[in-house]
Amino acid sequence: MLEVTGLRAGYGSGEILRGLTFTVAPGEIVAVVGVNGAGKSTTLKVISGLLRASDGHVAADGRRLSGGSTVEAVRHGIAHVPEGRQVFPGMTVRENLLLGGYTASKKVIAARMDTVTDVFPELSARLPAYAGELSGGQQQMLAIGRGLMSGPRYLLLDEPSLGLAPQMCQRIFEVIARLGTDGTGVLLVEQNGRLALAVARQAFLLERGSITLSGTGAEMLANSEVAERYLGVGSASAQAAGLQYWTRALAAAMDEQPPRGEPAGAANGLPAPPARRS
Ligand SMILES: Nc1ncnc2c1ncn2[C@@H]1O[C@H](COP(=O)(O)OP(=O)(O)OP(=O)(O)O)[C@@H](O)[C@H]1O
Ligand SMILES: [Mg+2]
Repeated sequence: MLEVTGLRAGYGSGEILRGLTFTVAPGEIVAVVGVNGAGKSTTLKVISGLLRASDGHVAADGRRLSGGSTVEAVRHGIAHVPEGRQVFPGMTVRENLLLGGYTASKKVIAARMDTVTDVFPELSARLPAYAGELSGGQQQMLAIGRGLMSGPRYLLLDEPSLGLAPQMCQRIFEVIARLGTDGTGVLLVEQNGRLALAVARQAFLLERGSITLSGTGAEMLANSEVAERYLGVGSASAQAAGLQYWTRALAAAMDEQPPRGEPAGAANGLPAPPARRS
């Protein structure tokens, strides 16, 4: 279990996170939704040790982190895939991946490399290519793959679908859903709230550094406040109908079968959910 307790943090004198408490269980996908500047990325930075908390603490599987150290976070099984991918364009795909596994033995690194190319077969043929030559979607795969190279039990993903074409976005979400079923705990910050809530078991709304609402992904998606303020237009009942559809569409996508008997549509490579309010 990844446990975040009473976490406070900021940059300089300005407090951004105002006492966050939540957990991520192994195999659970927890989504964080909220407007720009709410503190979503800051939350991930504190958990991964990029930023030191001013109060509160993070513990992984019962072991409390002293905080402020990325090396310590990796040792505790936490990997952070930051906003904007941040792969090294002048290094090869293989070198980028190896960076993610630098703490492990050669044997373990080889096994993890196999895992990553199994999760992302798209990368296996590109290992000798420079990361800068990859498409945006492949760079996102590389960024997630680099995170997986540390063998994390908890993966922090910051806006993994940002700027990706709909089909690539769908592909990334299939992988996120699979990571959950493989036992990795995933803390997912995602601008596409609807898609994030469809894959998340638990979710919370972050507003100005505080959690103002939490529930299951389905509850959040059906909540009219969340739906209208953070997911665009739609009544609670329309969102609930949408959720059922999106969940089926996602399950179908994971089985690599197109969902049947539903309207074809646009967003994120998945057909538009039914019953939208105009
Ligand atoms: N390095 C920094 N120095 C100072 N202030 C920062 C820094 N990074 C973020 N902030 C501020 O902290 C607040 C929260 O930022 P954060 O990046 O956590 O938001 P976010 O919820 O991830 O937003 P977005 O959806 O835009 O990614 C914002 O007001 C932002 O301006
Ligand atoms: Mg952010």
